[in-house]
Amino acid sequence: MENFRFYVPTDIRFGKDQLDALHDSVAQFGNNVLFIYGGGSIKKSGLYDQVLAQLAGLNVTELSGVEPNPRIESVREAVKLSHENNIDVILAVGGGSVIDAAKVAAAGAKYEGDAWDLVKDASKVGEALPLVDILTLSATGTEMNRNAVITNFDTNEKLGTTGWNLIPAVSFLNPENTFTVSKWQTAAGSADIMSHLFEQYFDRAEGTDIQDFVAEGILKTVIKNAPIAMQDPTNYDARANLMWASSLALNGLTGKGKKNGWTVHPIEHELSAYYDITHGAGLAALTPRWMEFALDATTVDKFAQYGENVWGIKNDDKMKTAKEAILATHDFFASLDIPMTLQGLGIEEDTKFAEMAAEAVRIDALDKNAYAKMTPADVEALYRAT
Ligand code: NZQ
Ligand code: ZN
Repeated sequence: MENFRFYVPTDIRFGKDQLDALHDSVAQFGNNVLFIYGGGSIKKSGLYDQVLAQLAGLNVTELSGVEPNPRIESVREAVKLSHENNIDVILAVGGGSVIDAAKVAAAGAKYEGDAWDLVKDASKVGEALPLVDILTLSATGTEMNRNAVITNFDTNEKLGTTGWNLIPAVSFLNPENTFTVSKWQTAAGSADIMSHLFEQYFDRAEGTDIQDFVAEGILKTVIKNAPIAMQDPTNYDARANLMWASSLALNGLTGKGKKNGWTVHPIEHELSAYYDITHGAGLAALTPRWMEFALDATTVDKFAQYGENVWGIKNDDKMKTAKEAILATHDFFASLDIPMTLQGLGIEEDTKFAEMAAEAVRIDALDKNAYAKMTPADVEALYRAT
């Protein structure tokens, strides 16, 4: 196991009827609040009114309309509003996109230059305004981590940035707030959670039983509960398990002590940057093909472990178990009604694949630091096979 720092100071308020604590959670940082949300789902669900009632007595500035695959323009607008209104604290209410935009805005408010600098170069992320969030979609883990992903469609770049001061101070996780999430977003979010676990699980660090057995447990939790939430959207326990899985899958618990970088995420981020597709759906389509690519004599033991411990597959031949596990992964995503091809995701043309593949390899050093190293030609072939 490699050395690591695990620092997650987020105050988690999990469950029903926790919102009475919202006022004090926000007001502890000051009276001037920037309330950021997305395209209107929180107005439909009634959460917007509940939040405003809680914020009574504070000076609230609102920014609505943060897009899925949040854009740098929204971040810049939030920074501008923060300066104009002398903002003390940001409250983000929504899915990963809203919270990620709020994170970079929180740092942007304390940075002299353009907020895009902070996305291009994480070493520039310094101080940040405190962030409180209410999560409404189980997927990204942003509610309990220091990462944010922002898109610049002018340059077709979708990039992740990170900083210790971006970790939310308080996250309200009420599974009931996810009852209204569509089947499509429930499926995509569940695939995203699983992909976070895969990115950390398939790694060449030795002796990481604790991380791996925890990851296997979270994977089994998602495999059990995602279909229930799809069929029965107001099933509290299914939504609760997915929500806590979202947080635990990407708060460092299963990734610390590992050594390789991520692979499928950078490859998917190119798809979202060029075609604005749903992140989790893109991951689901790419993952089984990536697994086939990564499976060889040096990785078969890990894939067989995954097959045995997560899917309950048992064979004398490890390669057979590994292949059956990959098929089970594919069939599970397909059972959630995710189209398992790029064409099914609406990507008809392929003229950009070579360019995108080169970018993915360059940005995350897939040819040097990945679990299964990939050249631009390998990544391009993966796009074509999907
Ligand atoms: O904008 P509104 O109206 O709120 O609608 C959203 C949006 O259309 C809707 N939604 C959210 N909560 C809902 C709801 N609809 C009904 N009821 C609710 N309770 O769902 C749509 C998608 O929302 P979005 O926030 O985009 O989804 P998600 O949470 O999956 O976030 C995706 C973004 O996070 C990034 C992704 O790349 C993508 O940009 N990621 C962030 C990570 C991180 N910060 O650690 C890691 C991830 O790997 C990922 O890259
Ligand atoms: Zn993800």
